[in-house]
Amino acid sequence: MPHILHLDSSPRGSRSTSRALTKEFVSDWIQVHPQDTVTYRDIGKYPVPPVDESWIAAAFNKANTLPTELTGALTISDELIAELLQADRYVFGVPMYNFSIPANFKAYIDQVVRIHRTFNAAWEGLLTNKKMLIVTSRGDSYGEGSALASYDFQEPYLRTVFGFIGITDITVFHAENLNEGKDSRQQAIAQVRHAMQQLIVSW
Ligand SMILES: Cc1cc2nc3c(=O)[nH]c(=O)nc-3n(C[C@H](O)[C@H](O)[C@H](O)COP(=O)(O)O)c2cc1C
Repeated sequence: MPHILHLDSSPRGSRSTSRALTKEFVSDWIQVHPQDTVTYRDIGKYPVPPVDESWIAAAFNKANTLPTELTGALTISDELIAELLQADRYVFGVPMYNFSIPANFKAYIDQVVRIHRTFNAAWEGLLTNKKMLIVTSRGDSYGEGSALASYDFQEPYLRTVFGFIGITDITVFHAENLNEGKDSRQQAIAQVRHAMQQLIVSW
C-alpha cells in the first residue's frame, strides 16, 4: 500500500499557488487510490531549524555512541529522515525564491541529506524505488530557450540534490508567470492542473 509524503514549503497560506496545487493533486490522487496513505509536513508554517555545530558533530561522529552533550542533536533530522524512508512517493510544493528555493526548504534539505542515513560513504543514495513530484511556483518563466532560462537554479538543484540521495524518478511541474497578470496566471495554473491529471493515471 503506497505511502505518500506531502510537503509544502511556501510560508504563505491560502494565497500560495504551490500549496493549492499540491493539495489538489494529493486529494485527487487519494480519490483514485483510496487505499494509499498520506503524511503531511508543512515546513512553510512550521520551519525546521538550520543545522548547527552540534548537528554537524553528531552527524559526522565516528564513535559508536554519541557523547552525552550531543544526544538529541539529530532528533529532528531523524524524524524527517524517517518520514522520507517510510514514504514511497513524495509530493512537494516549492516556490522559487531568488532563482532558487526558499531558505526553509534548504534547511529541510540540510536536515535530510545525511551521511549513513540517506547517502553512504561511497556517495550512493540510500533512498531507492521512490517517486517524487515537485510542483514549483514562480513569478516569471524560465523554460528552455527563454531569456531567463539560465537563471533557473531551482529545478537543476532539486534534481541534483534529491538524485544524490537516490531519488531519481522526479517529475517537475512549474506554475510559472504567476506575477505576469491574471490571464497568464490562470493559464499557467490550468496547464499544471492538466499535467497533474495526466500524472494521476500514469504515475
Ligand atoms: C522572497 C521572494 C523571492 C522571489 N523570487 C522569485 C524569483 O527569483 N523568480 C521568480 O520567478 N519569482 C520569484 N518570486 C515570486 C514567487 O515565486 C511567486 O510569488 C510564487 O507564487 C510563490 O509561491 P507560493 O504562491 O506557493 O507562495 C519571489 C517571491 C518572494 C516572496
